[in-house]
Amino acid sequence: MSGRWTGKRALVTGASNGVGLEIARSLAEEGARLILPVRSRLRGDAAARSILASVPDAEIDVRDLDLARPETVTALAMELRAEGEAVDLYVMNAGVVLLGDAERHLTEQGIELHLQTNFLGHYALTLLLLPLLRRSRARIAVQLSLAAPHGRLDDLQSERRYHPLRAYAASKRALGIYAYALAQSSVAGIWGVNVQLCHPGVVPGTGIAADARKRAPAATSRFVERLGSTPRQAAETALAALASDAVPGQYYVPSAAFELSGSPRERPAPNAFTDPREADRILEMAESLAIASRCT
Ligand SMILES: NC(=O)c1ccc[n+]([C@@H]2O[C@H](COP(=O)([O-])OP(=O)(O)OC[C@H]3O[C@@H](n4cnc5c(N)ncnc54)[C@H](OP(=O)(O)O)[C@@H]3O)[C@@H](O)[C@H]2O)c1
Repeated sequence: MSGRWTGKRALVTGASNGVGLEIARSLAEEGARLILPVRSRLRGDAAARSILASVPDAEIDVRDLDLARPETVTALAMELRAEGEAVDLYVMNAGVVLLGDAERHLTEQGIELHLQTNFLGHYALTLLLLPLLRRSRARIAVQLSLAAPHGRLDDLQSERRYHPLRAYAASKRALGIYAYALAQSSVAGIWGVNVQLCHPGVVPGTGIAADARKRAPAATSRFVERLGSTPRQAAETALAALASDAVPGQYYVPSAAFELSGSPRERPAPNAFTDPREADRILEMAESLAIASRCT
């Protein structure tokens, strides 16, 4: 197998389905060796079989990771560190949005589920993997969302008011702020990794919010399908982010109207991600919640 990423070791979260599966498949097609951490071995193994069906000599290492359970984040990172091999490509792609579920869900540590899964889990995993990422001067892509710049930061735990889309947007904005701050540290030469941000546009054919989508009127579903991308097309923005040699902290987005679909284009990260004071606040909060999680 030879290609752009021959021999490179790539870790993709959320590759058991949807856009992440297609990001992983494309990386395997380009010769990368995959680490696929998943919360369900059943779905992870099915994803591996699907990739092997199109790339028979793909190297795929399915591991356990539930971003909503901090102990599994630590366990995965410690396993990989003990093995000692660098990670060259890293995609923070896993995500959840509990559309249609009015109940606010908390993790065992009392953290709102979107915040933990989409942001804090990736934050902790990245910090713990930094020694392996720095060694290879890793390329890192962070999967955000059209909703991310609209997330509100004044109630990240949704304690005052809960709505799944609001909690999702806030968690993705926090992830975007973290990604941009990490990118700025790279520019300053602190971490020596290349962090780029991306979003996939609208991708109707994935597992995210699938139940809520099924309940939508047929005309709405058809309209969204026409506007959106397939998971394969939607993987392109993350792949462009990984391949980028631009200054860290660019945003790779679909190029068609309103960034709903289309081939990737690069643009500056939105202001919603770039304020250093907000970054300080978000990182302080993430650190204290991470410490609190370790103590429970
Ligand atoms: N689809 C869209 O229109 C759209 C739009 C904007 C942004 N995005 C973003 O794109 C990314 C991929 O989403 P998708 O549309 O491909 O949805 P998807 O098919 O549901 O994929 C989400 C992936 O994240 C994994 N995941 C969810 N919770 C997890 C947890 N606690 N621990 C570990 N993995 C977890 C899922 O694993 P399981 O198989 O176990 O569920 C799945 O592999 C997400 O970050 C999403 O926010 C999607």
